[in-house]
Order: sequence, then C-alpha cells, then structure tokens
Amino acid sequence: MEVLKSKKILQDFIERQKEMGKKIGFAPTMGALHDGHLSLYKNAKEENDLVISSIFVNPTQFNNPEDLEKYPRDINRDISILEKSGLVDAVYIPEVTDIYPEKTESQHYNFDGLEDEMEGKSRPGHFDGVGTVVEELFRQVKPDNAYFGEKDFQQLAIIRKMVEKKKLPVKIKGVPIYRAENGLALSSRNQRLDTDRREASKVIYETLKKVNEWFRVITIPEIKQRVQDIFDNQRGMQLEYFLIADEETLKETDFFYKDRNFRAFIVVVVDGVRLIDNMHLD
Ligand code: PAF
Repeated sequence: MEVLKSKKILQDFIERQKEMGKKIGFAPTMGALHDGHLSLYKNAKEENDLVISSIFVNPTQFNNPEDLEKYPRDINRDISILEKSGLVDAVYIPEVTDIYPEKTESQHYNFDGLEDEMEGKSRPGHFDGVGTVVEELFRQVKPDNAYFGEKDFQQLAIIRKMVEKKKLPVKIKGVPIYRAENGLALSSRNQRLDTDRREASKVIYETLKKVNEWFRVITIPEIKQRVQDIFDNQRGMQLEYFLIADEETLKETDFFYKDRNFRAFIVVVVDGVRLIDNMHLD
C-alpha cells in the first residue's frame, strides 16, 4: 500500500493511475478506523480498479474544540489496519495546508435546506466544514466513485447535493450501517466508551427496531413518547433527539404520507459521548 503524505505526492500518483485508465474508488475518513470503514473499502474494491482512502481530522467540521481535541488519533494503528485489510491501494494523509492553503476555514454552502435539519441545528457550521473538505478531496483525488456510510445519513445526503450542484464528476455510493454484534452502529467515538457502556448502548438499535414495528401502527407523536420513556429509564444516557423524517428532504414529520420514504433518526449522549444512528422505516 502506498502512503501519500502530501498533495504533490498524491497528484503524481493520481496522474499515473489516470494515464493507465484506472477506475478510482475513494473513501475519505478521519482515521480511528474500524470495521465500518472496512465495509466501505470492500464495496469500493468490488466496483473499482483501485481503492484510495484518506485520513484527515478536518478541523473546520468540529464546532466544539473539545471534541476536536478528544478525537482519537493513531496514524500508525490506522496504517497497519489498512495494510492488513489488503483492501486499500493507497492512503492519502494530507497536512492541513494541503487542504487549506490559506486560512483554515470553510466555504459557505447552500444545500437546499438539508443543512438546517437535525445535526445542522445542534452543530452550526458542521456541514460547511464537511462540504469544504470533501469537495477539496474530490478535486485532488479525482475519484470515479466515492463511498460514505449511511450512519451519517444527513452527511451522505448533503454530499450528494453538493456533487449535484457543483456538477462534480463522481458517483456517490451509500453503504449500509455496519453494526457490532449487539447492534451498536460502529463509530470511532465508541472507543471512548467502556465495555459496559458499549453493551448498554445496544438499546439505541433495539429502540430503532421497535420504532420500525410501531411505524404506521400508532401515531408518530405516540412513537416519540415511547422512545422518550425508554431513555428516561436508562442510567447515564440522555436522548438528545429522536425524530422521523422524509428521506429525501430530511424534514421532520408528524404524519405519514403515501409514496414517501421515511427514516428514524436518533442521537443519544452516553457518558458524554454523542452516539448517532438511524433506520429506514419499512
Ligand atoms: O464521515 C467522516 O468521517 C467525515 O465527516 C469525512 C466525510 C471524512 C469528512 O471529514
């Protein structure tokens, strides 16, 4: 596996691959790699000649400086996971100046209102930061296909919107949420939970499965009340939000409509760690 440590080295590498007509699959990450990332690479490997990943903890998408500081970083561990997986041909590890040559700040985007829902409300500026880094990475890596997990479903929708609006020549592929055996959606943040708390957090997935059973049987306000009751009885867990939204507009709804797809979204804070999950409702 090639380790590409600057924009210049990446550009030379990409140029050679393009000359050989290689189809590039790309999965950007912020490191702290886990099996969820490996599932992105597996999808990428099946559909491309070459798989590239990036590791870059993007400062502009953290609205909370403490969260940025606490974000787990272990580049040698990550490189060894990538090597062992045998799924990735090259990893790009840029310096901050490779992404932000002047000021480390975001561009401002209009994602047609997608940015104002859910995470946009609780994390102002977050999606401008994500858009900025992903657009820049796409311009440098020039992938044919790019892979993102459905765990961050709103991020995935926003990246699709950015690609459409900016007419970027890349196909965006959503990859289903990768779950631990107990159902907890894999996330780099899970590393900050001890084993007991990780086990207790399976209640998030169990709740989403119940919501899927209740969907179209009882009203959405009733579902919300039941979810609130579940988390009121969980020690050390706070339900930050639970809602059901239209999958396309991401607008919250209290009513079902025919011919629309709906998804349940949840954020729970467990011992100060913010866990996010979602589920398509059948
Ligand atoms: O999902 C992530 O890990 C990040 O938001 C991304 C897409 C790598 C951009 O920094």
